[in-house]
Amino acid sequence: MTNWMELDQNIREWIAEAGKRIRASFQTELNIQTKSNRNDLVTNIDKATEEFFTDNIRNIYPDHEIVGEEGYGDELQEMKGITWVIDPIDGTMNFVHQQRNFAISIGVYENGVGILGYIYDVVHDELYFAKKGEGAYMNDIKLEELKPVDIEDSIVALNALWVTENKRIDPTILAPLVQTVRGVRSYGSAALEMAYVASGRLDAYLTMRLAPWDFAAGRILIEEVGGKVTNLKGEDLNPLEKSSVFVGNSQLHKTILEKYLYRFK
Ligand code: IPD
Ligand code: CA
Ligand code: CA
Repeated sequence: MTNWMELDQNIREWIAEAGKRIRASFQTELNIQTKSNRNDLVTNIDKATEEFFTDNIRNIYPDHEIVGEEGYGDELQEMKGITWVIDPIDGTMNFVHQQRNFAISIGVYENGVGILGYIYDVVHDELYFAKKGEGAYMNDIKLEELKPVDIEDSIVALNALWVTENKRIDPTILAPLVQTVRGVRSYGSAALEMAYVASGRLDAYLTMRLAPWDFAAGRILIEEVGGKVTNLKGEDLNPLEKSSVFVGNSQLHKTILEKYLYRFK
């Protein structure tokens, strides 16, 4: 039997320590490399942070499996037992260029079901946390159930790319949504954007391609406050596959799906 209370205490300690190290790194020179393209960045701090978590997990929980962005985890075909899904720094471009708007994101799954989710905004010292069936929190504050909002009063997060020529979505699908909502925001950290939906700072967030570590924690948070998490076709997410992601307050999610996304194939 998993001792979830002890596991939660351990994660919190590790997140606090990792956050301290990341903040200290602001005083040092970063080693920055590119991955799939020149805008896909990784630094020595992303790698060191993931290694810090994986070393700690393997030390205390040798039978747990790990999915991590920077390659310190395992190659998994399926989720069996306990799986940790880790993005050591979500929003690396922001980390490098702005030293803000990035987060540590950790989801803990049991047989493929999300149980614990942590999104730590390192600079603001804000820890968004959820446990399946027990609600969601921002530090000590319990997050409220999301309330319905009229689409004209809503704030929606999406990247400007998706309303210009791009290879993933016809830009004319989302342009009318942008014209209808009260405001559009783009923070450059999927984990934070999901934490903001869970805490009501945003009403919805849509994006065309995320990896499991980008949404692993955020989906648990959003579901705990009654929000909806799907891909852009309205289908459930596979926790081990890349996909488009559409999250939001349930009623707004339904409206956007029916009025705007019906054309998305
Ligand atoms: C990225 C951020 C970004 C999203 C990208 C992700 P990373 O994660 O979440 O907001 O648009 O798709 O890859 O690379 O900074 O961990
Ligand atoms: Ca990420
Ligand atoms: Ca990352």
